[in-house]
Amino acid sequence: MTRKVAVVTGAARGIGLATTKLFLADGYAVAMIDRDADALHDAAGQLQDVHPVVCDVSHPDQVDAMAAEVAGAFDRVDALVNNAGVADFGPIQEHDFTRWRRVMETNLDGVFLMSQALVPHLRETRGAIVNIASISGLRASTLRVAYGTSKAAVIHLTKQQAAELGEWGIRANCVAPGPVDTKLALAVHSPEIRAAYHDAIPLNRYGSEQEIAEVIVFLCSGRASYVTGQTVASDGGFGSTGIGLPALRGQTA
Ligand SMILES: NC(=O)c1ccc[n+]([C@@H]2O[C@H](COP(=O)([O-])OP(=O)(O)OC[C@H]3O[C@@H](n4cnc5c(N)ncnc54)[C@H](O)[C@@H]3O)[C@@H](O)[C@H]2O)c1
Repeated sequence: MTRKVAVVTGAARGIGLATTKLFLADGYAVAMIDRDADALHDAAGQLQDVHPVVCDVSHPDQVDAMAAEVAGAFDRVDALVNNAGVADFGPIQEHDFTRWRRVMETNLDGVFLMSQALVPHLRETRGAIVNIASISGLRASTLRVAYGTSKAAVIHLTKQQAAELGEWGIRANCVAPGPVDTKLALAVHSPEIRAAYHDAIPLNRYGSEQEIAEVIVFLCSGRASYVTGQTVASDGGFGSTGIGLPALRGQTA
């Protein structure tokens, strides 16, 4: 049997790189997609059975070229993980249209463009799409009018994909990570935000890249063969609780 192939965006680092490594451990080959050429080649150079493709997922022409390159490198695509994302936290009044578009073009347009380009290949394998949203797409919060809205849209886009692509046996699911210590989080999580997250998360800690990757790879696998249109929060319990009640935490011990 031919080796399965996964396409992972934002694969040069963080959650995307951890997902790439987990797919490799499960016997897949991986097309690693990222717009940061240096970081991508550094990461891919340490791995086997990968094919790096430099591509900005928000540019239709680059996505088309990426699809052609992936089709040339591999004879199939079984899984697409739309993980590339950017975060930008700031007050609504300070979000001009440029900031809004910068977030939307990667976080939402990129998921749409990558999926449109690879669905013909996923149709042949009855493959799976996993889109990476965020707890910021499940619950509103301050400072993330663009980021939170982009991630809420990704959750709905996933349902649209599941509704239509199920006819061809393609499953589409979403993972909504809680906070994970990656470069993205380090750039926008102040010490105050970090402390507040600890208070609001029942498991009382940030997640790891590996913990998010495990859920992604599971949803792509045959073990999730009857799961589609779902959003799985991998968030230490953040989404299942009401407001964090740090004052009550000590009283439960
Ligand atoms: N880290 C967290 O706390 C957290 C929480 C919730 C959701 N997420 C989501 O998880 C995903 C991965 O986040 P991360 O923390 O690993 O981020 P990261 O910043 O560590 O890595 C993101 C990667 O995506 C690439 N990328 C960004 N825009 C791109 C584009 N337009 N085209 C191609 N590549 C692009 C970057 O070059 C980078 O290599 C994102 O969608 C993010 O929104 C992260």
